[in-house]
Amino acid sequence: MNASETQRDTAERLEKSRRMLESIDQEHLLHFVEELETEQLEELLGQLETIDLPEAVRMVERANTDTFQPPAPDLISPADFVPRHPENEQAAREHGEQLLKAGKVAAFTVAGGQGTRLGWNGPKGSFPASPLTGKPLFRLFAEQILATGNRWGRPVPWYIMTSPINDEQTRAFFRDNNYFGLDRTSIFMFPQGVLPSFDEGGKFMLSSKHQIAVNPDGHGGSMRALRASGAIEDMKSRGIEQISYFQVDNPTVKALDPVFLGLHAIDESSSGQLSSKMVPKTSYNEKVGVFCQIDGRNRVIEYSDLPEDLARSQSEDGHLRYLAGSIAIHVLSVDFVDRITGEEGAAAMPLHRASKKVPHVSLSTGELVEPAEPNATKLEMFIFDAIPLADRSMVYETDRVEEFAPIKNAQGADSPATSFTLQIERAARWLEAAGVQVPREAGAPSAKIEISALSAMGPADLEHLDLPKAIEPGDELVI
Ligand code: UD1
Repeated sequence: MNASETQRDTAERLEKSRRMLESIDQEHLLHFVEELETEQLEELLGQLETIDLPEAVRMVERANTDTFQPPAPDLISPADFVPRHPENEQAAREHGEQLLKAGKVAAFTVAGGQGTRLGWNGPKGSFPASPLTGKPLFRLFAEQILATGNRWGRPVPWYIMTSPINDEQTRAFFRDNNYFGLDRTSIFMFPQGVLPSFDEGGKFMLSSKHQIAVNPDGHGGSMRALRASGAIEDMKSRGIEQISYFQVDNPTVKALDPVFLGLHAIDESSSGQLSSKMVPKTSYNEKVGVFCQIDGRNRVIEYSDLPEDLARSQSEDGHLRYLAGSIAIHVLSVDFVDRITGEEGAAAMPLHRASKKVPHVSLSTGELVEPAEPNATKLEMFIFDAIPLADRSMVYETDRVEEFAPIKNAQGADSPATSFTLQIERAARWLEAAGVQVPREAGAPSAKIEISALSAMGPADLEHLDLPKAIEPGDELVI
């Protein structure tokens, strides 16, 4: 295109965006358009063309009448769950292994978050997360995916949802690390969607004269992002039937658990559409979502939304009645995701509203306003809201030490320190199960141990390795 053609093209695009904005009463987003440099105008047009603003307006309207409301306490009861080591565990394992052997399972990581709470400047997946060698979260998952592919003779495709903020950095991190030894064609990355923040009058805002203020649409946005990115089509073309979903913040997650996959696909309590793992909560106020049942359907109620007297209530044997804590590990079928993101299901995920301070450019002065109080609403979707959309959904109990050691905060609960303790405890248990003597002080291992998934994905794999008979206190052992 020559210069005058480019100009004409830009003018046409601007006109098209203007018409679109007028039709949804948001034309103020072009208020400063006359003042913009060419590149700034390009950026604004890029945003206007990629964010589906008419859809965002429908969501804002829907949010006015139909945002998530915690149900009345008398409608809530605890969800049933499949206990650890169910009777059909072996059959489930074999079924799950068959799915892996047939190449029908993909791994899916939601990695849109930044490590802000951790004080980490970069994609959260690049955070050093293993206790001795400091392997980043992405490497820990990659090793499991590689080991699983090697074991069953079929490489497992890995889908990773980034966010527009960390997409480039995440891609560069994978490139710089040579894709952690995985075949790069089996990795499919896509950024999650964003939604514009809006003011009291439902108007979207400008964060600068050429940028619309947006926020990521939540991990629930992964459903529509799977479709919009072409990932669903890609999965279908590879013959993938089930998606093993996990969050980027949990280094001990079993990225591809044959028992869970098998239970999901064959257990009667599941429709094979969406299943979830839970761990028993450590206390009534642990900050995890809780599996509940409402109208005969499972769903997760976030800890902040579960009425305190329900959270505290106990069964006769003294256990918490609302015991099942969500660790954000799910299996979803490709057909299910296809259904809930298609025409019929598009409006099905409830929206969660949060008030937020959004710096924005004043239309009257052109100055940037830094609000002292929340001035805007952001909308988000949560993955667990897809649970009640399944015909039947299974919740499966797992062990905290085995697979929930999240890293969310710099200090205190769910920090690197608590995660390292859990990771070392798990490694110690595996070694002990394989007959190695591990020194313990007041119950806790007094040596540091780290086991790569490339060496073992469970205690049984350790039996084939040449291991010491005993470990000394203070030892540091990497397997
Ligand atoms: C979440 C769950 C909680 C669960 C806990 C288990 C919610 C609201 N709560 O809490 O029920 O018990 O995990 O660890 O989800 N992410 C994106 N894009 C987004 C938002 C989040 O990819 O727009 C990813 C993050 O990278 C992270 C994960 O989702 O991996 C969790 O999000 P976060 O907001 O940190 O949830 P939590 O408060 O930790």
